[in-house]
Amino acid sequence: MTIAIEVADLVVHRGSRPVLHGLTCAIEAGSITGLLGPSGSGKTTLMRAVVGVQVVRSGTVTVLGHPAGHTALRRQIGYLTQAPSVYADLTVRENARYFASLYGLGAAEADAAVRDVGLAGAAKQLVGDLSGGQRSRASLACAIVSKPKVLILDEPTVGQDPVLRDELWAQFRGLAEAGSTVLVSSHVMDEANRCDRLLLIREGLLIADDTPSAVKAAAGTDDLDQAFLTLIRRREAVPA
Ligand SMILES: Nc1ncnc2c1ncn2[C@@H]1O[C@H](COP(=O)(O)OP(=O)(O)OP(=O)(O)O)[C@@H](O)[C@H]1O
Ligand SMILES: [Mg+2]
Repeated sequence: MTIAIEVADLVVHRGSRPVLHGLTCAIEAGSITGLLGPSGSGKTTLMRAVVGVQVVRSGTVTVLGHPAGHTALRRQIGYLTQAPSVYADLTVRENARYFASLYGLGAAEADAAVRDVGLAGAAKQLVGDLSGGQRSRASLACAIVSKPKVLILDEPTVGQDPVLRDELWAQFRGLAEAGSTVLVSSHVMDEANRCDRLLLIREGLLIADDTPSAVKAAAGTDDLDQAFLTLIRRREAVPA
């Protein structure tokens, strides 16, 4: 097994508060790992640390053998931020072509990414005129345009209908099968079932790191929503 992302004893403070309290995990290359946890539990913070844009207090984050944020990783990581980060005054196609050019890629790759996120029909529209869900997908097109080795997707399917969600997950699976390591955060449990592995964090602590079926088995239920509630309650029942 090749490890693409290794997090060891990661401690992050934001503002004056600790947000991650010594988190350790390893993510296998070419897999899809789901990052789950309640709002405010530290999912985005962990992703920012992996991308290398988060100041960390202690611990290490290693990506493809380099410390997170290393210049050698710049072209190898795609990051979809939770809030869409595309230019409102450019069209969808112009945005994708701009991001493609940062990776030395051309119009063909950009147009393919726009198609992959289901926006071919809106390629000539200004991003500022799109719906929220369309804007998220425009941002996703820019994150996947280079088919990066490591793809960090912060809630990529929020605001998308079930058909589109299904299509987007097929894209993520295709990228993983082609060798990309995908880390994706979500609140939607039927999406979690599509991951190879799940990381469940709560208040900055890892409370599960396993396959979806093992998480369900450990909680004694077939329902992932229920499994997470059980694991969280079990954790709360154990005195610190
Ligand atoms: N810029 C900031 N300054 C201070 N504290 C912050 C900042 N950003 C986030 N936090 C705090 O860090 C904690 C973790 O936030 P984070 O954004 O990582 O959570 P999350 O799991 O991604 O939540 P959500 O599901 O709502 O996106 C929260 O308590 C939040 O209030
Ligand atoms: Mg978040």
